[in-house]
Amino acid sequence: MLVMYLSVSAQPVHDIKILAGKPVADIKPTMWGVFFEDINFAADGGVYAELVKNRSFEFSLPLMGWRQVREKGNGRVVPTFYTPADESNPRYIYIVVDAPEGAFGLMNEGFRGMGIRKGENYNFSVKARVHDKADITMRLELTDPDGKVLGEAVLTGFGPEWRTHKITVTASETEAKARMRLMFSGRGRIDIDMVSLFPSDTWKGRPGGLRRDLVEMIADLKPGFLRFPGGCIVEGRDLTNRYQWKTTVGPVEERRMIMNRWNVEIRNRQTPDYFQSFGLGFFEYFQLAEDLGAEPLPILNCGMSCQFNAAEVVPLEELDPYIQDALDLIAFANGPVTTEWGRLRASMGHPEPFNLKYIGIGNEQWEEQYFERYRIFEKVLKEKHPEIMIVSGSGPYASGDYFDYAWQELRKLQPDLVDEHYYMRPEWFLANATRYDNYDRNGPKIFAGEYAAHGREADEAESRNSWYSALAEAAFMTGLERNADIVHMASYAPLLAHVEAWQWRPDLIWFDNLNVAGTPNYYVHKLFSNYSGTHVVPALSGGIPLSGADSIYASAVIDQNAGKLYIKLVNSSKSAKKINLAIEGVTLAKTADVELLTAKNLYDFNSITNPKLIFPSKKSVAVKGRRVDFETEPISLSVLIFSYRK
Ligand code: AHR
Repeated sequence: MLVMYLSVSAQPVHDIKILAGKPVADIKPTMWGVFFEDINFAADGGVYAELVKNRSFEFSLPLMGWRQVREKGNGRVVPTFYTPADESNPRYIYIVVDAPEGAFGLMNEGFRGMGIRKGENYNFSVKARVHDKADITMRLELTDPDGKVLGEAVLTGFGPEWRTHKITVTASETEAKARMRLMFSGRGRIDIDMVSLFPSDTWKGRPGGLRRDLVEMIADLKPGFLRFPGGCIVEGRDLTNRYQWKTTVGPVEERRMIMNRWNVEIRNRQTPDYFQSFGLGFFEYFQLAEDLGAEPLPILNCGMSCQFNAAEVVPLEELDPYIQDALDLIAFANGPVTTEWGRLRASMGHPEPFNLKYIGIGNEQWEEQYFERYRIFEKVLKEKHPEIMIVSGSGPYASGDYFDYAWQELRKLQPDLVDEHYYMRPEWFLANATRYDNYDRNGPKIFAGEYAAHGREADEAESRNSWYSALAEAAFMTGLERNADIVHMASYAPLLAHVEAWQWRPDLIWFDNLNVAGTPNYYVHKLFSNYSGTHVVPALSGGIPLSGADSIYASAVIDQNAGKLYIKLVNSSKSAKKINLAIEGVTLAKTADVELLTAKNLYDFNSITNPKLIFPSKKSVAVKGRRVDFETEPISLSVLIFSYRK
């Protein structure tokens, strides 16, 4: 199959006509977006910058991630429960300290270690109280894996009432695998909970915020929308484990931690220490969307758990609380501060509405049990909130029985947008760049909500994001762009993965505790998104779109505001191709810039240690009036950037 697309033979010259003066469709500002799911340590252990794992002792094993440390001192650590019971944060621990000379305490291992940087400040906080006026001192230490201290600070003054104590510690060295120790000296009992350590250097400097380097990578994509919180995480393995947005807002200590469903999902990638603290909850998602200039697109559970797992459904007559969650979410995002949910939003620091326009009902459900629930949601939402666009699912596959059945129903229902998912081989992407050319122009609009070319696996975590997979996606994306009249949104999935804690690959961005690497797929997405334009213009060869003939794929857009024409050319073959571009309808500047993305080998990939092996380079080409002679590199994506006058 591969040979078909990668033939090495003498190539003719290709004439491509660009009708730059004849826009055929608007490109929605939402066209290229991001899909965020807490999978692969994307949130906890990733973009949510908390360094302490199991900070509130709510993992199934309350001391997971913690270890006792003795330094000429003794003691006991006992997990227990609040009385009266606290539903959202049931446990704390008490430590009976017997260390008048030395110290006894606990070490937290972080999320595969803690990434700390020399000279940076780390903000520590702990909720604590002592019993019987115990005189206990706590020494906070950052250490390397061998126990060398890389920063310390001392806390005293614990009283009989629960109080949050804070202190800042500065790291003396950079270390990707640091740990944190809490060493207690003195005698008596101290109770602790909500033990937290954050870098002070977060995205926008927000205390308790997000990892700056990771958010910057996402921001560089200039996403048109942010889909959250998933993915299968919306559904849960079973319904009790589903994502419930109401438990993710308000003060962080009141957000109820649950197991992350990816914890036990993949047999050979078990991650028993993967939970959701919801420090990155729905408020933070809305805030992030706003920061990014992206439309927020929350996806809500539709009364079904993951059909690949428990496949439970809520009886139709008991669907009301799920629908109420959707209505309340709209109130939380958009309602005035005088309402219950608007007030909560304001109390979290955002009195202005978030201007929510889209809601997804269900993630990746299939068969009648989905549509009978979807219909009920849709009826209520359209009645009460006609201003909100509803995204419905079409199941997990790009074709087949589930997909066909879904579309049979969707044609009747005519939702605003249909979410299609395709995780397919690169060859499929190359062969399906024309997928939307023949879709019904009067039907629902398309949200290509989760796609990724799944190719060859190799040992290195990042290897599945080969240049070949990215190139195939680029070819396919010319088809999405050409069909922007009906394709209104597209996002690669998943977005983020920790190299030591992933469950699913390929992924758009890889990271460890200190570093981040964009994949070739990331740079492809970035080029399409950064040069997205305002209108599609025809790119024709022999009067028809060029989509795979002789391994070339082309699409073209103009940006009417900026006076720019962007032509994307993908060459999926191993030989260079000569292309004569004839650009009609506009007057062009004398040179054009080119952003070129290519690799030596199809299976090259970027890694944390070599993150820019495949990286866009820039050059320029001469424009002769309306003509450009251009030679595409073998296995490449080129974006040609022209300035024009009408
Ligand atoms: O992106 C990973 C998973 O793929 C998503 O959670 C799910 O929607 C799809 O099956």
